[in-house]
Amino acid sequence: MAWYKVAKESSMKDGDLFKVKISSEDVLIVRDRGKFFATSVFCTHENYDLSEGFVDEGNIVCPNHFAIFRPSDGSVVQNPEGSGAIPALKSFKVKVENGDVFVEA
Ligand code: FES
Repeated sequence: MAWYKVAKESSMKDGDLFKVKISSEDVLIVRDRGKFFATSVFCTHENYDLSEGFVDEGNIVCPNHFAIFRPSDGSVVQNPEGSGAIPALKSFKVKVENGDVFVEA
């Protein structure tokens, strides 16, 4: 495991999300209310790319069937419409130092 610089703190505003490749992992970076979070990129329902989703009330929303995930730990807040329970996203540790955002992977 190592820390990887993924963004400048000032380059993201609340509600922003984007994906980065770290080592062999696809990681989703999310900013909400001044805090940064990192999860796996692909929805655990049908692998939709969550970097094309959005943040609503502090949660990541998959626009495909509206599964909702908590960015702080990847847990499922709401299962997809018409679906049973789905697994959580993978969660990564994040830290901010001197204006830079780092993810451990
Ligand atoms: S692919 Fe994300 S909710 Fe179905």
